[in-house]
Amino acid sequence: MPKIFVARRIPDQGMNLLYDAFGRESVTVYPKDEVIPRAKLLEGVKGVDALLPILTDRIDAEVMDAAGPQLKIIANFAVGYNNVDVAAATARRIPVTNTPGVLTETTADLTWALILAVARRVGESERILRAGQWPGWGPMQLMGSDVFGKTLGIFGFGRIGKAVARRAKAFDMRVLYTSRDEVDPELDHEYHAHGVDKAALLAESDFVSVHCPLLPETIHAFGAAEFKAMKKTAYLINTSRGPVIDETALAKALKSGEIAGAGLDVYEEEPKIHPELLKCENAVLLPHLGSATSETRGKMAHIAATNVVARLKGERPPNCVNPDAL
Ligand code: DGY
Repeated sequence: MPKIFVARRIPDQGMNLLYDAFGRESVTVYPKDEVIPRAKLLEGVKGVDALLPILTDRIDAEVMDAAGPQLKIIANFAVGYNNVDVAAATARRIPVTNTPGVLTETTADLTWALILAVARRVGESERILRAGQWPGWGPMQLMGSDVFGKTLGIFGFGRIGKAVARRAKAFDMRVLYTSRDEVDPELDHEYHAHGVDKAALLAESDFVSVHCPLLPETIHAFGAAEFKAMKKTAYLINTSRGPVIDETALAKALKSGEIAGAGLDVYEEEPKIHPELLKCENAVLLPHLGSATSETRGKMAHIAATNVVARLKGERPPNCVNPDAL
């Protein structure tokens, strides 16, 4: 009977798959709805065959060694897997899996929620209204910026970046993007978009939306120099990973008017929010909601559990990010 450790309860679509495949006795779930404390994680993984962590759990060599040599899979409950030391897992021949595809459209929707909210000052306006400070309609009051017809710059043209671009068509926007891959004219045609370099993206976009993965080379890809290169009227949106943005530099740029606003769903040190960002009325700040719909979280749970089941049944886990480990 294999032993599976789930570091925080996930939706039933995943839990039931594990229970049906291996029986309830095989599965241990950290019982509290909170980020599992490190000591409990190190204790919980001892002797397990499969670990199902979530993106807030740092899964490094220490965790893998605490589990022991029988650990056969780390099935991350997220598409991003920067919380897992993949090199350490590969060195121990442990496959790491993620949950790609199912959260693409949901995260693109949330990106648009941020674009519209920051451009039309939704957060700031609601705060005024709820505080009883709305004096009634005024011709010069809370004026924002139009979205339709503007230029959207997408930094990282993977699945989510493309889904954001598709929605931009309905807003009659010009779409620019940067990509690690060669610019492909077919792609430009399909998405009504133009591949450009980062300098052009920053200089020409009214909205810059970040969709790259967190890699050593994308840490602080947006800092003081980038904000200086953007239009003063431009907005920055981030639904990827927090450390892609230098938050100290962003708060300065928002306060000094170097850029017009920011819509953020992710932060450098979640759940801590940079205190200076909290003071910026021109920032819309969400608590990492990108994939947070019941439909999508259910699908993510199903995928993560499917990977565990496949691996423990001796099959290839479908979403392995380090095939060298197999
Ligand atoms: C992911 O899966 O990487 C998302 O950030 C979760 O919301």
